[in-house]
Amino acid sequence: MIKAALVIGARPQFIKAAPLIIEMGRFLETVMIHTGQHYDFMMSENFFEELDLPAPDYHLNLESRTPGKLTGEMIAGLECVYDFEKPDFVMVAGDTNSTLAGAVSAAQRGLRIFHVEAGVRSKDQKLPEQINRVVTDSISDCFFCPAPSAVENLKTEGKVKNVYDTGDIIYDSLRLIEKQIPDKPPIPVELPGSFALMTLHRAEAVDNIEHLKSILSSMKSSPLPIIFPAHPRTAKMIDYFNLGEEIPGNVLMFDPVGYADLLSLLRLSEFVVTDSGGVQREAVYLNKPVFVPRPETEWVDFEKLKRVRVIGYDFDFADLEPETADFGEELSYLLRPSAKKMIEILKSLF
Ligand code: UD1
Ligand code: UDP
Repeated sequence: MIKAALVIGARPQFIKAAPLIIEMGRFLETVMIHTGQHYDFMMSENFFEELDLPAPDYHLNLESRTPGKLTGEMIAGLECVYDFEKPDFVMVAGDTNSTLAGAVSAAQRGLRIFHVEAGVRSKDQKLPEQINRVVTDSISDCFFCPAPSAVENLKTEGKVKNVYDTGDIIYDSLRLIEKQIPDKPPIPVELPGSFALMTLHRAEAVDNIEHLKSILSSMKSSPLPIIFPAHPRTAKMIDYFNLGEEIPGNVLMFDPVGYADLLSLLRLSEFVVTDSGGVQREAVYLNKPVFVPRPETEWVDFEKLKRVRVIGYDFDFADLEPETADFGEELSYLLRPSAKKMIEILKSLF
């Protein structure tokens, strides 16, 4: 039997692993390795319970370190696992430091690399996610692209072999959890009758005091209260910059919630403000207007269709008109399950 090593470590990777593990289980022996990049219960273990994921075969238990130390130690830990398990290939997903470490350690051990969410690109070459994506794709052997723009990006970089437009794994994850989405999510504040949902965590926004202040103060102009389950990085940076007082009264901030609860909040919301790659696509799939408080989005296929709107760090809701149009023909090709297709392609390559 072909043996796979699946490297995960951050919240979105646990969510993406769920549909992959189901399909991989049909044909492959899979060794799942958790790097420990995310470690709070609600950033990690909770998703294993919610999505019925098997416990990782290995846990590197690295937790919070500087990015270089974390990535270096992940590479060293993964190398040991690969040497012991001798997988036939390594699968990584997305653009986190765990993705980078999974790929670099595999390349150093001469293992084939399959990248889920390959070809996604930012214009800003210095973003940590962009660095991770570009390096990972530069050493990958097979590219599972979530959308046509990602295929085009790889083509521009001279990559055409083993490049597949498979669709978005987040779409599969959403379909997998759909039946578990509660009508009313249990959250620590009383849910307003009508509200907007916000998530925010990217380093470019929350590690920069000007950007963070600007986004928080822009939220004042929201016509609706804002429900804000905050990523631990964001909560820590608000404390670090002493911005607690700058959070407008219409923003109800609390700890991260589970996946089904987040999707319930999304479904109940009027619109979404997010810098999350995953939440942007979930908003599109659940037909909610979504505004991105960044200078750009990587999800350009949706931006072109006006389903995702980039608004920068400083915005006024009075100037924004949420798009509410129903899905047209032009979007339907982006609504497709991908995990099965990926594993079939993978099998054909051995
Ligand atoms: C990482 C990814 C980002 C992805 C995000 C998903 C990188 C470079 N970035 O960002 O692309 O969108 O995950 O959520 O890999 N922390 C906790 N508890 C946790 C996890 C994090 O307190 O369980 C805090 C720590 O102070 C940590 C900080 O958040 O230092 C940042 O965590 P890190 O994993 O480095 O980056 P993310 O911002 O989570
Ligand atoms: N998510 C969650 N609880 C939350 C916020 C987000 O379960 O409180 C889920 C969300 O539904 C999406 C994923 O986490 O599937 C996105 O992860 P994140 O925003 O951390 O990272 P990104 O997608 O930007 O890499």
